[in-house]
This record gives sequence, structure tokens and C-alpha cells, in this order.
Amino acid sequence: MARSTAQVGIVGAGPAGLMLSHLLHLYGISSIVLEARSRDYCEARVRAGVLEHTTVQMLREAGVAERLNREGLLHEGIEIGIQGRRRRIPFVELTGKAVTVYGQQEVVKDLIARRLADGGDIRFECGEVSLKSFVDGSPLIYFAKAEEENSIACDFIAGCDGSHGVSRPFIPEGSLTLYERIYPFAWLGILAEAAPSRDELLYMQSSRGFALYSMRSPRITRLYLQCRPDEDLAEWSDDRIWDELQARLGCGDGWKPAEGPILQKSITGMRSFVVEPLQCGRLFLAGDAAHVVPPTGAKGMNLAFADVHYLAEALRAKYQDNDESKLEAYSATCLRRIWNAQRFSAWMTSLLHRFEEASGFDCRRQQAELEYLMSSRAAATSLAENYVGLPLE
Ligand code: FAD
Ligand code: PHB
Repeated sequence: MARSTAQVGIVGAGPAGLMLSHLLHLYGISSIVLEARSRDYCEARVRAGVLEHTTVQMLREAGVAERLNREGLLHEGIEIGIQGRRRRIPFVELTGKAVTVYGQQEVVKDLIARRLADGGDIRFECGEVSLKSFVDGSPLIYFAKAEEENSIACDFIAGCDGSHGVSRPFIPEGSLTLYERIYPFAWLGILAEAAPSRDELLYMQSSRGFALYSMRSPRITRLYLQCRPDEDLAEWSDDRIWDELQARLGCGDGWKPAEGPILQKSITGMRSFVVEPLQCGRLFLAGDAAHVVPPTGAKGMNLAFADVHYLAEALRAKYQDNDESKLEAYSATCLRRIWNAQRFSAWMTSLLHRFEEASGFDCRRQQAELEYLMSSRAAATSLAENYVGLPLE
């Protein structure tokens, strides 16, 4: 069996695992990243698109924002609509900050390229990852690569392997509490080869269900439709998707989304969960491995970056000053931001979606909430402050 050593073993080469590995490298701490999928797969996976002001700052300070600075689309606000009426929420005017639209897979490409250029050790296509002796001993990670058994001896393990990863299930039963909510709907997302026909994102509530108009580049739009969680993608022809998008997003002033060839379609279920605490002995969970938010608030990837910022700072204090206090406080520090993001994401989700089971009272209350947001500067400021991202502690 081939045995390697590193100060930190990282499971998962998504945004969390890659950024952690990069930050640790900047602090002189060695890491090895194990990833189940191929490099091509990781670089092509279409997911998030909105980077908080806080995340952009973090990527800039870490020296990995060169392409983001060139190609990222600065968005100074978003629009919220009800049944074809829109209101702009001007982020810069209300908070002094903006967000940047830049695809998650572009962030992943930039981080992989940078880690490899810096001599980083990322092992793609690893199978059967298992974690040992992290509760009260010296952690070991076993894995298979090219049908060979391998192991890594490390001081700490970072579980950055997403919501379906293996790290969390290795934590002994009874050590974690799971808080969860499953929503009775999903999002059908498409990527279309069509130049965006508006400058900013449009979140639209409609009696047919929620729809979101987003984009990736001056050539590509990204759109989402609320659908059933068990929806069959085969029943959604391109024409049906465009008809539904036009019906939900079309506005009273005659604006409609521009159409184009659909490059990719997928359905994503909506749920929220948090596990507490985010640490067990020498294993630390970060990103979707520890929490998932519904995508309505665009918080998932941003929370993953915040977690690894705190984890990298805590490991730096441990290695540079032999100070374990930040490692001990890691979970509590992350959870304050996580629960606020859960609150905001649940609020955005309940504000904008159609709930089949809602009573007449609930529908009217939802309508009043939207009308308040459309007319009150204080309500718009609260949305803006959360959307652009609260400062890191
Ligand atoms: P992941 O990106 O899931 O990475 C985990 C990695 O671990 C993967 O590469 C996986 O292959 C690997 N892995 C899994 N199991 C193993 C194993 N056993 N061994 C080794 N490796 C393993 N967030 C936002 O901030 N803004 C948005 O606009 C937004 N929109 C979204 C839209 C959609 C449709 C979806 C689905 C998500 C969206 N999100 C958004 C959420 C965001 O994509 C996630 O929060 C983000 O990917 C979390 O990063 P991560 O590194 O924690 O996990
Ligand atoms: C996206 O562009 O993929 C996107 C934008 C905003 C969201 C979710 C997803 O809230």
C-alpha cells in the first residue's frame, strides 16, 4: 500500500476543498486533496453563479481572482417581480456593495489551475475513501486509485465532499444533530445559448410558480423554473420550457426572456439542512458536507468559502502559534453565519415560491410580504445587506 503524509487531508475538490488547499498553501501548511470524480467532470459541473462581495474580496486577497476580475459580471442590484411587475433592489445605493456573476465551474477551474501551478497535490478519480482514527488518535485516510490501495497519514481531516459525501457518515452515531427541512418543490434549470436580454437577475413570483432569470456571460443565460420534486425531465421539451419561462417571466412592459438553443437541463430538489457541530475530534466539515440551503438566496457556495476561511485561519493559529482556540471555536463561529444564511434563504424561498398546500390566508400574507418589499426602502435594504453578504467575523 502506498502511504503519503500531509498536515491536512482534504476530501472533495469542490469550491470548499480547493480553496482550503490554496489558503493552507499560502500559510505554508501542506495538504492533499482527494476527489471522486475526474478533473473534466469537476470543471464542467454547472451549479452556482452568484459570488457575494465578501467572497470576491476573499478570492482577491488570496490572489486567485485574475480571470474573475476580467470576466466576472458586476451586478449592482437585482429585480424582484410579482405577476409581471418588477422592482429593482439597488444594492450599491443601499449597502455600498455589489455581487459578481461568475460560474462556480469557472471558480473551480481557476482554483485547480492555481493549485497545480503551485505544485499542489490533487488526486482525481479516487474511490472508496474511508476515514480512520480521527476521534482521538492520528487521522488516516484510506482510498483506492487505479485499483490500488493508498493511505494518507495527516494531523487533521477536512470533509469538503458535499452533501452526499462520505466524511459526515464516518462521524460516530450520536455525535451530530441534523436539522432539516425538505421543500415540496424543485428547480428545473437550463443553460441557454442566448445573449442576456436584461442586465440584472430577475426573481419572479407568479401564480404558475417561481421563475429566475440569471446569466453566465454576455452569450449565455441561466434560467430556472419551480417544478415538482418528482418532475420527469423527459416531459420538458425545449419548447415547453420556453413557453413556461415566457409565461412566468414576461412583464407588463412587454419584456420577455430572449430564447436560444438549450445547452443543458437539470432538476435540483430543494432542501435545507445543518449538522451540529461541524467538528468531531480532528475531522472538520466544511461547505455542503455540513449544510445545504435552498438556492433562492444564492448562499451555498458563498457559505462554503466562509467556512474554509475560518478553518484555514484556525489551522494557521495552530501551526504558527500552537493556539488551538480557533479550532475549538470553529463550529460555533461558522454556525452563526450558517444560521443567518438559512434564515435568509428560507425567507427568500417562502416569499417567492408557490406552495400548493397554502391556505387563502397564507397566499394573501405572502402577497402582502412581497408588496412591502416592493415599496419599503427598509425592507429592500435588509434583502440587499444579506444578498451581498455580511462581513466575516
Ligand atoms: P461540492 O461543490 O458539492 O463539492 C464536493 C466535492 O466532493 C465534489 O467535487 C464531489 O465530487 C466530491 N466528493 C463527493 N463524494 C466524495 C467522495 N466519497 N470521495 C471524494 N470526493 C467526493 N450557491 C451559491 O452560493 N450561489 C448560487 O447562485 C447557487 N446556485 C445554485 C444552483 C443550483 C442549481 C445548485 C444545485 C446549487 C447552487 N448553489 C449556489 C450551491 C452551491 O453549488 C454549493 O453550495 C457548492 O457547490 C458547495 O461547495 P462544496 O465544495 O461544499 O461542495
Ligand atoms: C444562478 O445563476 O445559477 C443562480 C442565481 C441566483 C440564485 C440561484 C442560482 O439565487
